[in-house]
Amino acid sequence: MTAQTHPSKTPSYADIVDRMQSMLADDLEATERLLIERAKSPVDVIPDLSGYIVSAGGKRLRPMITLIAAHACGSTNPGTHALATAVEFIHTATLLHDDVVDDSDLRRGKKAAKNVWGNNASILVGDFLFARAFTLMVETGNLEILKILSNASSVIAEGEVHQLAAASRTDLPTEEYLAIVEAKTAALFEAAAEAGALSSGPDGEIHAAALASYGKNLGLAFQIVDDALDYGGTTSVIGKAVGDDFREGKSTLPVIIARRRGSAEDQAFWDRALNIETQEEADLAHAIHLIRSTGAAEATVIEAQAYADLAKAALRSLPQGVWRDALSDLADFCVSRVH
Ligand code: IPE
Ligand code: IPE
Ligand code: MG
Ligand code: MG
Repeated sequence: MTAQTHPSKTPSYADIVDRMQSMLADDLEATERLLIERAKSPVDVIPDLSGYIVSAGGKRLRPMITLIAAHACGSTNPGTHALATAVEFIHTATLLHDDVVDDSDLRRGKKAAKNVWGNNASILVGDFLFARAFTLMVETGNLEILKILSNASSVIAEGEVHQLAAASRTDLPTEEYLAIVEAKTAALFEAAAEAGALSSGPDGEIHAAALASYGKNLGLAFQIVDDALDYGGTTSVIGKAVGDDFREGKSTLPVIIARRRGSAEDQAFWDRALNIETQEEADLAHAIHLIRSTGAAEATVIEAQAYADLAKAALRSLPQGVWRDALSDLADFCVSRVH
């Protein structure tokens, strides 16, 4: 993808992740332990399949948001660790389901679980992890947090169904694309941040709304960048197959912009190529060419940056310090990972 921002000012992905991981070392250790412990079951396929995807890595972005949000409002506690685990379980469940829906073969640099255990096991273990997330949340005894995360769970499912219903609609308005992204991705970021804040004690209640707004805008930025990476990234970096969205006929922001800016001939190309019945092998290369040559790749990143900036602006009312800075750096990371 064309680099278009300040490489010297933007900390690298490795820098940010290393720093967050050392700041959160004890919290992440507790969370990783719970991720293994709470996926235990006498039915072997459950720990086998969930252990496979959990140990494949993943950025642990959402639990980090929960943990940092709690620190920014005071401190973490065992309840925060349970919530960070619940948030990652919800995320993992959605990935297991999503790879079946999107028929994606690669996840976290490895074969998708559905290609190892099959679709049925992937869906059912996803359901198990969803349910375990709820057990963890209930254990915190905080009804407000339970309400936030259960609402986010239904909104995510709604977003995934909305996207399915919008498949191959090449005239998808940007507003509708954003509504899908807000539901399927930003809702969990929002809930992760808000739940983290509320788990930390009385100051958390003061800052919960600001952190919810931070999480929502960060989630929007993150998914928009992810959609740019589907055309401009490399499989080895993203750990997923490049072009998955295109092969599924999804109208994501890079496509919406490229189609809008294209000639009548280009528009005819998009209409044919995004229909999976008429898509041809060579179409992905041409799609990538159009997304670059119309400036849609850059415009997509600019849109993501605007949401990352809104996320950072939402932090202004929080106490200054290393935790607020960490949240701000995470927002930069979400955009800088395209470069
Ligand atoms: C993947 O999320 C799903 C999207 C919302 C794009 P991540 O990119 O955070 O996935 P992992 O957890 O790091 O694998
Ligand atoms: C990921 O969505 C799943 C959810 C956000 C629920 P995508 O289908 O856009 O993400 P990847 O590319 O498979 O990670
Ligand atoms: Mg997918
Ligand atoms: Mg999907």
